[in-house]
Amino acid sequence: AKISFHHSDGNVDVLDVDPGTSLMRAAVTNGVDGIVGECGGQAMCATCHVYVRPEYLDGLPAISDDEEEMLDCTTEDRNERSRLGCQIKAGDDFDTIEVDLPASQI
Ligand code: FES
Repeated sequence: AKISFHHSDGNVDVLDVDPGTSLMRAAVTNGVDGIVGECGGQAMCATCHVYVRPEYLDGLPAISDDEEEMLDCTTEDRNERSRLGCQIKAGDDFDTIEVDLPASQI
């Protein structure tokens, strides 16, 4: 599956990841700046906040109660494209996705 991370400075990191890999895990293991993933993927830290590009939003699973709660704790303001990167998995939830990264996560 292919993930494109668009940084706030205009740079783009494109990764090819195995099915089952969360967007947060993909970024952290590949050294993509802009995703911290402090809680390890438990929907408890909000440092994996991303803005999903509109064309990819529809295919994603619904926001869980835990994710909903953490999305209100993000450093950069939440908007209608906001998701937690640890709650979105390659294969299950997308084959290709593009996200914009907040300027800051902490
Ligand atoms: Fe902590 Fe996603 S990694 S909420």
